[in-house]
Amino acid sequence: MKVSHVAATAVLAAATLYSVLPAAAGSPEPGRHHHHPHRPVDVDQPLRDLAGRQLLVGTAVDHAAYTADAEYRERVHTEFSSITAENVMKWEVVEPVRGERDYAAADELVAAAKRNGQRVRGHTLVWHNQVPAWLTEGVESGEIDRHELRGILRRHIVDEVSHFRGRIYEWDVVNEAIDDEGNLRDTLWLRELGPGYIADAFRWAHRADPKAKLFLNDYNVEGLSAKSDAYYRLARELLADRVPVHGFGAQGHYGVQYGFHSAAEIAKNFGRFEALGLRTAVTEADVRMVMPTDNVKLQAQAQGFSALLQGCLLSRRCESFTFWGFTDRYSWVPGWFEGEGAATLLDESFQPKPAYREMQAVLALAGR
Ligand code: G3I
Repeated sequence: MKVSHVAATAVLAAATLYSVLPAAAGSPEPGRHHHHPHRPVDVDQPLRDLAGRQLLVGTAVDHAAYTADAEYRERVHTEFSSITAENVMKWEVVEPVRGERDYAAADELVAAAKRNGQRVRGHTLVWHNQVPAWLTEGVESGEIDRHELRGILRRHIVDEVSHFRGRIYEWDVVNEAIDDEGNLRDTLWLRELGPGYIADAFRWAHRADPKAKLFLNDYNVEGLSAKSDAYYRLARELLADRVPVHGFGAQGHYGVQYGFHSAAEIAKNFGRFEALGLRTAVTEADVRMVMPTDNVKLQAQAQGFSALLQGCLLSRRCESFTFWGFTDRYSWVPGWFEGEGAATLLDESFQPKPAYREMQAVLALAGR
C-alpha cells in the first residue's frame, strides 16, 4: 500500500481503511463494489480516479475563483468528474434584467467541463433565493400577477433547460421546497402559484430536455426526519401523478457541532426513495466548524464527510456525490455563519485536511 505524506496522515489513512472495510464489504448491492482483498490500494490519487466509474465525484465551482485562480482551476479539473455551478446558473445571474438572458459564465464552466471529461449538474431552476430583483419587486408591487408569474416561471425553465440541453445530466429542478417542520415552504412560488408549481416545474423541464434526470433537492434531509418524511410523501404523490421526477438530492451541509447521521441511516433514507424508483445523490457536501480549527474538530469533520460518502456508497442508486467547494480559500460558510468556517476538504493553501485523506481512503476501498 502506498500511503505518502507525513507519518500522522499515513497512520490516519491506514486506520481509516480498516474502519470502513466492513461497511464497504456489506454493501446492499453485490455488483456495485468489486472487492479484491489481495490487491494493494494506492490511496494517494485524485478523488475522481479513486472513484472510477462507480460514482461521479463533483464539486461546486465558484466562477470568479475559476476565472482568477489557476491553481483552483487546475484542482477542479484533476480532482473531480462532475461540476455544479455554485451560483452562475441561478435565475438572478442568468436573467438580471427582464427578458435579457446571460448564460456566458455558465457556458464557460460547461465548455471547460466538456474539455476535461467532466459531467455537469444543473443548479437550480426554482428556488426562493437568488431570484432577480425585477421579479420579486414586480410581484410585490402587483405589477406581475399570478397568471403572468406562472408564464414567467415556465419561460425561465424552458429557456434555461433548452439552452443546456444534452449537456446537463441532472438538474436540481425544485430546491428547498419544504421547511424543517415538513410543510411546503412559504415562498413566493407557493403563495402565488399554489402547490402545483412543483409538478409544473418538473413537466416543463422534462419537455425541454427529456434525457436530463430531474431532482428534488434540499438540506436537512440526509437522515430520517419529519422533513425527509415529507419529501418521501411528496415524491410518491408526484410519481403517482406521473410527474417526471427522477431523483432526490440531499445537500449534506453539516456542522461538527451538530453531529451527523450514520451512514446506515442515510442509506436507509435513500433506500426508501430508491424503492419509489428514484435515483439519489449527495449534492452539496460540506462540514463546517466553529473557528479556530483544531485536530479534534478536523477529525470529527472527516467523520462527517465519511458518513455522507459511505451512506451514498451503501445506497443502490446514489450515483453522484458533490462537495460544495473543495478549498477553504473559497467557501460560502464564513460569509453566512459568523465565527464558523473550514468546511471543505483542503485548507486555504490547498493542503489536504484529514477529511480529504478520509475521502481518498473510502473511495479507494469502494473501488477495489
Ligand atoms: O453577485 C454578486 C456579485 O456581483 C458581488 O460582487 C458579490 C459581493 O458580495 O455578491 C454577489 O453575489 C453573491 C453570490 O453568492 C456570489 O458570490 C451573493 O451576495 C451571495 O448571497 C451568494 O451566496 C450564495 C448562496 O447560495 C446564496 O443563497 C453562495 O455563494 C452559495 O454557495 C449558496 O449555495 C446554496 C445553494 O445554492 C443551495 N443550498 C444551500 C447553499 C448554501 O447556502
